[in-house]
Amino acid sequence: MSSELLQLAGVHKHFGAQVVLNDVNFRVAPGEIVGLVGPNGSGKTTTINVISGLLQADHGTVDFMGHKINRLPMHRRARLGINRTFQVPKVFRDMTVRENIEVAARSVRLDPREIDPILEDIGLAGTASRVAGALTVNQQKLLDLGRALATQPKLLLVDEIGAGLNPAELNVIAELLKKLSARGIAMIVVEHLLDFLNRITERVIVLGAGRMLFEGSLETASRDPEVIAAFIGAA
Ligand SMILES: Nc1ncnc2c1ncn2[C@@H]1O[C@H](COP(=O)(O)OP(=O)(O)OP(=O)(O)O)[C@@H](O)[C@H]1O
Ligand SMILES: [Mg+2]
Repeated sequence: MSSELLQLAGVHKHFGAQVVLNDVNFRVAPGEIVGLVGPNGSGKTTTINVISGLLQADHGTVDFMGHKINRLPMHRRARLGINRTFQVPKVFRDMTVRENIEVAARSVRLDPREIDPILEDIGLAGTASRVAGALTVNQQKLLDLGRALATQPKLLLVDEIGAGLNPAELNVIAELLKKLSARGIAMIVVEHLLDFLNRITERVIVLGAGRMLFEGSLETASRDPEVIAAFIGAA
């Protein structure tokens, strides 16, 4: 019995001899935003991959809305309501912005009338007929987010969407993520930019070399000796 949306229990993942996730356990409630932070190579993207289905955990369970989803392929998890953005945005460069959203929308048989509101949300309504390859990196990140939104996720996994953006662009994305959360979409937001994270959530999980070092408020995390050591050790 649980009101949780997502639950990871005892998740392990290794690549060859390298253990990349080591006993990762956490929960996400419906509509909640959780920050996922840690030094480079600490396993943040791998965590996103194991939840979205790009990778399967070696041990442990991933439960979504009370169902074990460990063995489901990515497209089945997307249909259940899990989607993600990519650290390097994945867009079809030769297709227009609208066509990119349409491809994702078709995969879940989204009503085509829902596409314009998504274009408005991501601020690309005015560039809907441009080819995606001509967009700035910021716009490609927004389009990648729009592609994920077209599958109507209950849980959105956001991988370093803020990296390389200027303060004005970060501001727009922070406001957008808050708006999506207010609509009931839960999020795991992987981010190195702690100021950005601080604007959208208090609750963070800190990974260090594949282990959970901390779970709690961002403010407490920044004073935790183990967390500080992990960041300094990685610098
Ligand atoms: N497909 C793979 N095959 C082999 N090793 C991998 C693979 N994916 C990730 N790794 C390794 O696993 C570790 C964790 O990688 P991961 O991408 O999850 O880190 P991260 O926390 O997202 O780092 P960053 O902040 O640089 O994005 C790293 O040492 C990485 O080199
Ligand atoms: Mg990463």
